[in-house]
Amino acid sequence: MLNGKKSLFSGMQATGTLHLGNYLGALKNWVELEDDYETFYCVVDLHSITVRQDPAELRRKARALLTLYIAAGLNPEKNCIYYQSHVPAHAELNWILNCFTYMGELSRMTQYKDKASKNEDNINAGLFTYPVLMAADILLFQSDIVPVGDDQKQHIEITRDIAQRFNSVYGEVFTIPEPYIKRTGARIMSLQEPTKKMSKSDDNENASIFLLDNTDTIIRKFKRAVTDSGSEIIHSNDKPGISNLIEIYGIATGKSIDETMKEFEGKGYGEFKIAVGESVASMLKPIQDKYEELSKDKTYIDGVIKSNAEKASYFANKTLRKVQKKIGFPEKIK
Ligand code: TRP
Repeated sequence: MLNGKKSLFSGMQATGTLHLGNYLGALKNWVELEDDYETFYCVVDLHSITVRQDPAELRRKARALLTLYIAAGLNPEKNCIYYQSHVPAHAELNWILNCFTYMGELSRMTQYKDKASKNEDNINAGLFTYPVLMAADILLFQSDIVPVGDDQKQHIEITRDIAQRFNSVYGEVFTIPEPYIKRTGARIMSLQEPTKKMSKSDDNENASIFLLDNTDTIIRKFKRAVTDSGSEIIHSNDKPGISNLIEIYGIATGKSIDETMKEFEGKGYGEFKIAVGESVASMLKPIQDKYEELSKDKTYIDGVIKSNAEKASYFANKTLRKVQKKIGFPEKIK
């Protein structure tokens, strides 16, 4: 709890570009949470350097992500959108929590094992302790809920274990967070392999619609989308490709599955794919226009970055001071 409200924290890496799945499955729903929760959406640049980054690219992508969040509808006066590197408390709590985390539990993290096998030439200590930094992110804000994808559930579990371990020694310092995984949220599948989720780390650009793709690109990608055998526009389990397109079309136009099947009865895949592309392009257009407008307004974005980092620091430092005191670090002399 913060300010008498439940608290929500989520972090995102600036390394991939946001795609339609991120928007429809997460971002779009987050906008509705801003009145009920004290929310923190952090661009986790400290996490990003666990794999090598080009400095200019990292800076550019971090700013683009922060801007895109606002463009997609998160009001920065109500939602605290900030850079992790601007709030040193993340790194400070990370160190402390390192001393409450076991090598054994970290070595069981599936994401670590996966990333280590993909980056054999750079299995650094940061990659190993990545979940501890995540725990610090979440616990600094006394978060009640953490919206994440399924792949991050194990990291929320370890966060809970670390928090409980700490609390059992020092008393009720940390709120124990719950993962917030919206079952009803849209599950947008890859356009190239429709049995897999649309993913930031997919190497095939045609598999995903990025939020800043222009209309031509969007339509081209939908035209190339993998569909199933047959030619009818039918939603069914054995037609994952066309079913995915029907669902995307439904979200973009507000039409139900039945309405869509009726609308395209007797029509072919080709015509339907173009319609889906056009509907998605027009859904994303306002976000893209807003993004363009915001990108030009350096003063405004700089102001958001500064004021939100201050807000995040205020809450983070409160928790950090409490932790430091519990542990027995000497009080600062004022
Ligand atoms: N590891 C998360 C991801 O890759 C990003 C992240 C960092 C995060 N810190 C977090 C997510 C805290 C939720 C809460 O998606």
